[in-house]
Amino acid sequence: MSKRITVLAGDGIGPEVMDEAIKVLDAVSAKFNLSYELDHQLVGGAAYDATGTPLPEATVKSCEQSAGILFGSVGGPKWETLPPDDQPERGALLPLRKHFGLFANLRPGVCLPALTHASPVKQELIADGFDVLCVRELTGGIYFGQPKKRGTNEEGTEFAFDTMIYTKPEIERILRIAFTAAMGRDKRVCSVDKANVLTTSVLWRETAIEIAKEFPEVELSHLYVDNAAMQLIRRPGEFDVLVTENLFGDILSDEMAMISGSLGMLPSASLGKQNDDGLYFGMYEPSGGSAPDIAGMGVANPIAQILSLAMLLRYTFGENDAAKAIDDAVASVIADGKRTGDIFTGATGEAKVGTAEMGAAIIAAL
Ligand code: NAI
Ligand code: MG
Repeated sequence: MSKRITVLAGDGIGPEVMDEAIKVLDAVSAKFNLSYELDHQLVGGAAYDATGTPLPEATVKSCEQSAGILFGSVGGPKWETLPPDDQPERGALLPLRKHFGLFANLRPGVCLPALTHASPVKQELIADGFDVLCVRELTGGIYFGQPKKRGTNEEGTEFAFDTMIYTKPEIERILRIAFTAAMGRDKRVCSVDKANVLTTSVLWRETAIEIAKEFPEVELSHLYVDNAAMQLIRRPGEFDVLVTENLFGDILSDEMAMISGSLGMLPSASLGKQNDDGLYFGMYEPSGGSAPDIAGMGVANPIAQILSLAMLLRYTFGENDAAKAIDDAVASVIADGKRTGDIFTGATGEAKVGTAEMGAAIIAAL
């Protein structure tokens, strides 16, 4: 299997936080005797400025020859007025997802015990921390279903519709990812649907019950999406893995990010093809954006990028020990009181650090 990783730092804080992630990769590679070939390529606004397109062919070629992509973030005010296809997000991020068939979006919502004050939910509800993995289907459902149409009927009334459609194999493969992930966690999957009104959800729920039989150790529960939105606030500590279709996952994963406290802490993985070893081609990136308001100041939190690297090691290379070492190093640095500006409160025991200092502390903990 290719040991190549395409590195796409992108715009804004992307290059700053990527620097720290690469240093962490060097450190973890030395510790666990791993070896990867990194190929840095242009993407987003930086690529547009240099080549006239946000997704140059050389970048796509490099990704095709790699096992996975470590992505920073793209976009910023400088490129907002460009035509849609030249814009960093629409012209690079979405085409990459499409080109590589990245159908599974994994977003851990994690709030470490020392950071629960940053969460807007009641402290006692997450006193032991908050740690949920949201598995969202990313390439199907109502966002992509055809036909979609806007028109005017014979009576002169305007109408519009979208189509929510799923094939059974699309549902099966995303559920298998959720159940497999649960096996490495607390072995509980909550499948979120709207099976009381949506036909797609009826198929989803039946399929979930079938796939659960392949994973007898994992406990499956079901929630309607409206109830799931409530229960996440009411009893956030009680979830392990949430799995749901595209639209519901878009909304619930943002709700989970809010419960977690800071965007600067949250990684994500978008997985595509699975190889014979059960590992995935994937694109790994922070949940947040390019944060133009703090770009270039050396204050961005590199943890989302560093935890994205840990996800890459886990899902693309199967290096679970190395991935866990990174997760643990991050947790220990937070427990020590090190805080970038986004998670700093001024409480006793906290020390405010910049991007590079946070990276160095994580490497020291490793
Ligand atoms: P954003 O996530 O970039 O920023 C929102 C707020 O969170 C800002 O105050 C920012 O400073 C803060 N923040 C985000 N990440 C942080 C970190 N690592 N450390 C400390 N603080 C952090 O979202 P916004 O402002 O809506 O978008 C800014 C630009 O990013 C836009 O051009 C947008 O299109 C782009 N964007 C790109 C994404 C991607 O590349 N995947 C995703 C979302 C937005
Ligand atoms: Mg969203």
